[in-house]
Amino acid sequence: MRLTVPAIAAAFVMTGWVGAHAAEVAPGDVQIEDMAVEASLTGTPGNPEEGAKTFANRSLGNCLACHAVEALAKEQFHGNVAPPLDGVADRWSQAELRAIVVDAKKVFSDESMMPGFYSLDVGKNVREDLVGKTILTAQQVEDVVAFLTTLKE
Ligand code: HEC
Repeated sequence: MRLTVPAIAAAFVMTGWVGAHAAEVAPGDVQIEDMAVEASLTGTPGNPEEGAKTFANRSLGNCLACHAVEALAKEQFHGNVAPPLDGVADRWSQAELRAIVVDAKKVFSDESMMPGFYSLDVGKNVREDLVGKTILTAQQVEDVVAFLTTLKE
């Protein structure tokens, strides 16, 4: 019998062998290949509504500080130092969007202003309370990616 990965994970969780976060990929272990991260960081599908909240939350994604997006135009002031994200799902695949959110520097360039949201190497001028931590949790990354994949034109 061939067990699929989710089936095995479910079996582990049901038997209590592993805790809730055991399936998470640690920030140092994320494989960015060809500008993409194919596998989910958590195995739990992202929730686009939660992702939109994280996206707009100033102490979490704070993506609106730099990016405009029509769907959240009413939320608050949004920046324009970075490309508007409308239609971003037409430009990038889900795996590429995951890589951009995990660590934009590995996708664009070391000079990118965009912070690495699931990297211990967050970027320049890191807030002291973030040293040694990622800005977003693995599930928050999945939620934001799920939100981004809804942005089609
Ligand atoms: C400090 C500014 C800044 C913040 C904050 C920021 N970004 Fe970016 N982002 C950029 C810049 C600048 C680029 C363009 C590529 C480059 O120059 O590095 C970019 C590019 C992107 C792209 C590719 C856009 C395209 O059309 O090709 C996506 C997707 C993206 N960002 C998502 C996000 C998400 C999601 C967040 C929040 C979790 C976020 N960004 C937060 C500055 C930022």
